[in-house]
Amino acid sequence: MKVRKAVIPAAGLGTRLLPNTKSIPKEMLPLVDKPVIQYIVEEAVSAGVEEILIITNRGKSPIEDYFDYAPDLEERLRFDGKNKDADTVRAVADMADIFFLRQKETKGLGHAIWRARSFVGDEPFAILLGDDIMLGKKPVLKQLVEAAEANSCSSIAIREIPDDAISKYSSVKIDHKISNRVYSITDMNEKPTPDEKLSNYAIMGRYVLTPGIFDILEHTAPGRNNEIQLTDGMKTLCGMEHFVGVDFEGRRYDTGNLKGYLESIIDFALKNEEAGAWLKQFIIDKAKSFEEF
Ligand code: G1P
Repeated sequence: MKVRKAVIPAAGLGTRLLPNTKSIPKEMLPLVDKPVIQYIVEEAVSAGVEEILIITNRGKSPIEDYFDYAPDLEERLRFDGKNKDADTVRAVADMADIFFLRQKETKGLGHAIWRARSFVGDEPFAILLGDDIMLGKKPVLKQLVEAAEANSCSSIAIREIPDDAISKYSSVKIDHKISNRVYSITDMNEKPTPDEKLSNYAIMGRYVLTPGIFDILEHTAPGRNNEIQLTDGMKTLCGMEHFVGVDFEGRRYDTGNLKGYLESIIDFALKNEEAGAWLKQFIIDKAKSFEEF
């Protein structure tokens, strides 16, 4: 079972980061030296994905421009002898074959994924949510691909979280452990209250799904927020087919809210070759003597 294709839903309005995201897609917000979506595309590529469909909407064209060639800019950079910068700019566009499709209507994550059915065809595929940045020694999507291949089924990223956070995610019912970090999943529900949760294991933004999900999504009624929920579709799928969750190794950043976005900026900046050491000292000094201005 080879996973060659990935879908990145990037059609959301970004209402948790306004007014920044009024005219800049949240996926294009900078994380130190590159936009959020580049980290997502890099993870997909490092997991073996060759073709990526980004589901967009009105106002998201900066994403398309970003993954295109920029001949004027590149020519100028080369003319100025800045070949390294020109190569960097070009490499972004050459990372993978990237396709774009507009969702057209804001009808939920399940609907956005359903729009990818012609692109995906009849093969297993990956989904990477555009807000969630995952960093693992082994790319998190690769961990999922390996679990999907080993068990010939769908796999999703799961992580144990406290009761007070579960209503922000989907919870899953774990039937039994299959192997190290891999669990059989038999049920799930979207944004449960602590009373409704099926466990404290929540779904995080990475999925490898079999193509059977498309027929299911076509007939899935709107759920939470009156939107077609991917989780509702997967609930049906895991009742029909073997389905596993991977308690993945690695860090996760939710860049779609202010605190998660700030946390990722600081962590990534601290790792930056040029500015990391300087920033560490700056933060130490600042914490001792910060004055309101
Ligand atoms: C989405 C999914 C949810 C999942 C979460 C992971 O929610 O609907 O099932 O647990 O991503 O980040 P959202 O964050 O879009 O509200």
